[in-house]
Amino acid sequence: MTELLTVALPKGRSLRAVAPLLAKAGVNVDVVLADDRTLIRENRAAGVRFLLLKPDDVPTYVEYGSADLGVCGRDVLMERPCDIYQPLDFGVGRCRMVVAGVRGRPAPTGVPRVATKYPRCATEHFARIGVQAEVVFVQGSVELAPLVGLADLVVDLVETGVTLEQNGLEVREEVADISTVLIANRAAYKLRQAQVRPFVAALRAAIGGRSG
Ligand code: PRP
Repeated sequence: MTELLTVALPKGRSLRAVAPLLAKAGVNVDVVLADDRTLIRENRAAGVRFLLLKPDDVPTYVEYGSADLGVCGRDVLMERPCDIYQPLDFGVGRCRMVVAGVRGRPAPTGVPRVATKYPRCATEHFARIGVQAEVVFVQGSVELAPLVGLADLVVDLVETGVTLEQNGLEVREEVADISTVLIANRAAYKLRQAQVRPFVAALRAAIGGRSG
């Protein structure tokens, strides 16, 4: 019997965004979205099993070959570049990575301190625009940092803008456009193409028909 194709999925927001496309591609998403603590979910009829991971861990499982394919945000790949293929963009989970600061507060005069869960992206952004900055890593609730003196600025994702708005922050600069992409292990993409290609084709068709 052929081994199941293994797909790494990010738990949470990205998964809910991609689930309708997986369903259109023939996956039983009830299996994937079931509210239990199992970390491996099999859909034998579709020839696929899913690993449910923290979003930041998806590229690691794919790069090392524990998963053949994975679903992850471009922000995750920007922060931790890795040796994988990106065969398609789901066109969902669209948001922006931005620099934000307290609304109406002038730009800091000295070296700005920047709080972010994307230290690499932040460091590269400020280097690119020729501004020296001190980057401080935080895990989440990033918008809090400038409100309590931890930082002058943040680098974070903005989707609806509600979090910035409700915390009195404003966008100062754009860093990157973000969306959710499919990634593939390089070896699996070649060696398991009999399984990988039809699955990717079904996803591509689902994406193409999304707005129809
Ligand atoms: C993300 C992001 C922003 C917020 C933006 O945080 O880091 O805080 O969503 O969304 P909005 O523009 O639609 O308000 P997330 O909810 O993932 O939680 P976190 O702050 O703990 O990282």
